[in-house]
Amino acid sequence: MSEHDHGDDNRRFPTDDPAVVTCGLPYANGDLHVGHLRSIVAGDVFTRALRSVGQETAFVCGSDMHGAPIAVEAEQEGRSPREVALEYHETYAEQFPQFGVEFDNYGHTDEPENVELTREVVRALRAEGHLVEKEVKVAYDPTTEQPLPDRFVEGTCPYCGERARGDECDEGCGRHLEPGEIEDPVSVATGEPAEYRLREHEFFRLADLQEYLQAFIDRLEGTANARKQPREWIFGDLEDWCITRDMDWGIDYPDEDGGHEDLVLYVWVDAPVEYIASTKQYSERVGAEAYDWRAVWGEGPDPELPSGEERGPPGRGDIVHVIGKDIIQHHTVFWPAMLRAAGYDEPRAVVACGWVTVDGEGLSTSRGRAVWAEEYLEAGFEPDLLRYYLTTAGGFQDDVDFSWERFRQRVNDELVDDLGNFLYRSLLFAHRNYGGTPEADVSEDVRAAVRDAVEQFRDGLDGYEVREVGDAAVDLARFGNAYIQNNEPWNLDDDAAARVIRDCVQIAKAVTVLAEPVIPDTAERVWETLDEPGSVHDATVDAALETPPAEFHEPAEPFEPVDEDHVADLAARLEERVAESDTDTETDGATGAESETEDMADTADTDADVEPLTQERISHEMFQELDMRVGRIESAEPVEGADELVRLEVDVGVDRRQVVAGLQQLHDVDDLPGTRVVVLVNLEKAELFGVESNGMVLAAGEEADLLTTHDDAALGGRVR
Ligand code: 2FM
Ligand code: ZN
Repeated sequence: MSEHDHGDDNRRFPTDDPAVVTCGLPYANGDLHVGHLRSIVAGDVFTRALRSVGQETAFVCGSDMHGAPIAVEAEQEGRSPREVALEYHETYAEQFPQFGVEFDNYGHTDEPENVELTREVVRALRAEGHLVEKEVKVAYDPTTEQPLPDRFVEGTCPYCGERARGDECDEGCGRHLEPGEIEDPVSVATGEPAEYRLREHEFFRLADLQEYLQAFIDRLEGTANARKQPREWIFGDLEDWCITRDMDWGIDYPDEDGGHEDLVLYVWVDAPVEYIASTKQYSERVGAEAYDWRAVWGEGPDPELPSGEERGPPGRGDIVHVIGKDIIQHHTVFWPAMLRAAGYDEPRAVVACGWVTVDGEGLSTSRGRAVWAEEYLEAGFEPDLLRYYLTTAGGFQDDVDFSWERFRQRVNDELVDDLGNFLYRSLLFAHRNYGGTPEADVSEDVRAAVRDAVEQFRDGLDGYEVREVGDAAVDLARFGNAYIQNNEPWNLDDDAAARVIRDCVQIAKAVTVLAEPVIPDTAERVWETLDEPGSVHDATVDAALETPPAEFHEPAEPFEPVDEDHVADLAARLEERVAESDTDTETDGATGAESETEDMADTADTDADVEPLTQERISHEMFQELDMRVGRIESAEPVEGADELVRLEVDVGVDRRQVVAGLQQLHDVDDLPGTRVVVLVNLEKAELFGVESNGMVLAAGEEADLLTTHDDAALGGRVR
């Protein structure tokens, strides 16, 4: 068990209860690319790994059909949102299996099961007294008289001042934004300023569930980002959450009392309910004896049951949500609050992965900087290669960079040279000399190595670290390669050679079983070579130490090396695409309505939240030109008329400077005096809101974390 990822009191897998693994639902409005595949493949790997330790598990997902981006795209194409969304949905349902992603159920949010369950949840929230009606500012297009919900509108984030979408500060602080919050709203479709009008909406009073959520977040398992990030919200002021929208496309608000017929539910209400609906569809297809969705999700709303306050302690299902890190808040605040209020069980774990960047920069479909699922398959590569790349290129929470050249290197060095080479040479040697597994005992050393690899695999699973699961097999294959090399069976007498080869065949079988979650097709082919009964997909890790068949088939090389020219071609194509799109953007004008609209509708964009490193180098001389000094803030006061700016008096040793900095929203202004800072003192002067700024205080990241000194360097000391 890796202690940093989950508390000691957590149960290891397998449990006695059925589990469900879900993946974040892709919005049905764009082609699949590596960004989608990272979390979806991770969900599949996680599910397969769970099954191989004997955990009964369903793997479900569906397409996210509602929401503004889909409505926007449909409007642009002059089609109905349902038609557009269904077309994408069908493509996704076909493409996921082509990447070895085998959902037990892949539904969509516009199906009757989901519509019904969602409305039931909302009715329960109302019956429990958690809904309030409030007047809010809704952006309107003054020319068309149309409301502009969520991504129909853009403007300035009230928290960090960055350009943001109506429902999310996607380029700045990453916050979810409520209707009416965005400043200087502009209609995305026309580029014209929008106006705010007052409208009645339904709100979920999250604060009612605050105490529950505070306990929930302490129990939650999963990646550290998902367990830590939400604490700030859950232990802060939980604002009411607007759950309705002025739109036609979506699930109608269940409006028994009248007055809200024109509202639909916010897409983030019905989307996660699809996790339940999809599990239910699966359960109904196979029968409750085979898999009972209620055993995972609990009873749900029941008018006969006592209300939340009197209800017993919350139940926990073995529910594991695998998502991208941009939707942590939805899965750790809104969703568990909905589940609890509606009487369902809470999730056990939220597992949130980092982005995929492409050639060192944020993936952007509108800028052509993406690797498409279809493009990958058309290039003729096996799905296993990409699965391996995406799951083992970095820690699960870290961003993973994709480049075609790196893809070639990793496939050739790790899959072909390490894993493939070991399987091929050991099984070929065994087949040629013994027709299969030689008769001998497996050595203690090799048993121990296999047991360690299985433990590494289990630790990866219990610690929600998918890379570790994938690495277990490759590390064991490397051990196997060294084992052959060191023992040189070709130089040994018959008995000794048989013992070494016996060991190697055992290692090969163990590698195959442990590699199955990440490279299922390859593992199945090797399993067939070994003439093992059944399918490796049904094998458990116990098989790693079970004896392989005495006779098996001649092996084939498990992987084909990736050709240098082939990837060079693909890389050139990608580069061209990006260059073309840059030219288009320049011609359109960077803020042209057309390109903006495309970006806005492009919800799958996962521009990395950590900027890629700058490639261009500067000289030492240039660096020396920056005169940075240790300073101390002596006084701080808000700049009149500016929401974000603070006027600082900073003592920089040699003199005292007035500096204006954008810290008002991010720091308590009264706490600033006394803070030691680093000041760039030879920056040209500027005037902000009529106040002169003579220097710059250095700060890191979106939260403007002030740079300070570790020890007590004198004020005025130079920073180099
Ligand atoms: O962010 C997204 O892409 C959403 N479509 C994810 C929904 S996941 C869920 F909770 F429904
Ligand atoms: Zn922001």
